[in-house]
Amino acid sequence: MEKRANIYEGKAKILYTTDDQDLLIQYFKDDATAFNAKKKGTVDEKGIMNNAISTKVFEYLGQNGVPTHFVRKLSDREMLVKKVEIVKVEVIIRNRAAGSLCRNYGVTEGKTLTSPILEFCYKEDAFNDPLMNDYHITALGIATEQEIAKIKEITFKVNDLMKKFFLALKIELIDFKLEFGRYKGGIILADEVSPDTCRLWEVGTGVRLDKDRFRHDLGNIKEGYQEVLKRVTGS
Ligand code: TMP
Repeated sequence: MEKRANIYEGKAKILYTTDDQDLLIQYFKDDATAFNAKKKGTVDEKGIMNNAISTKVFEYLGQNGVPTHFVRKLSDREMLVKKVEIVKVEVIIRNRAAGSLCRNYGVTEGKTLTSPILEFCYKEDAFNDPLMNDYHITALGIATEQEIAKIKEITFKVNDLMKKFFLALKIELIDFKLEFGRYKGGIILADEVSPDTCRLWEVGTGVRLDKDRFRHDLGNIKEGYQEVLKRVTGS
């Protein structure tokens, strides 16, 4: 697969075109940002670990009937993905209270939720990714009602599958963020699934194994990613 032009560079990844117009190379960087890039840093080998973890999760989701952009892992930092048109919405599921839910609603971190919360945020850094609902999304022409329905259906399915996947590794899936894209008339899961985009707490101890170590200067950041990688790959 020939790597051609850099067509998009985000905070943690770069997308390159390839000799196949339907496929892109997604390259994982070590850069880490938090709070809409107010905090910046790097985590040594994060890109390698997130590529490996995302690969495992996408393979698992794909095997369980979730349509994803993942094609195959190409190298330490690169995966081949389908070229989608990203829907400008970040989709969050919360199974237990943490992060902005606590800040915005005065909820104690770790509080059990009686049912999962699904949130949409407008994917636009210039406006700080504000929370939005289905009405904003359709009225502003960001996605259709049918697309929102599909996105919700896939997101809840991903939640059920990922909760099981991580629980088997003695990890509780606290919350996560997904992104979706349009591909050949349908909606598929895109972006990445990693400790950058999920909160992962060790069962029993509550030890944080995710990017909150970076966000809140909890220390041993790399070791958190390494621990998730070790459990996910079984090595
Ligand atoms: P939050 O509590 O900061 O809103 O984050 C909820 C989940 O979404 C958490 O698992 C981290 C993830 N997330 C991202 O992947 N990217 C983002 O830009 C934000 C704000 C959160």
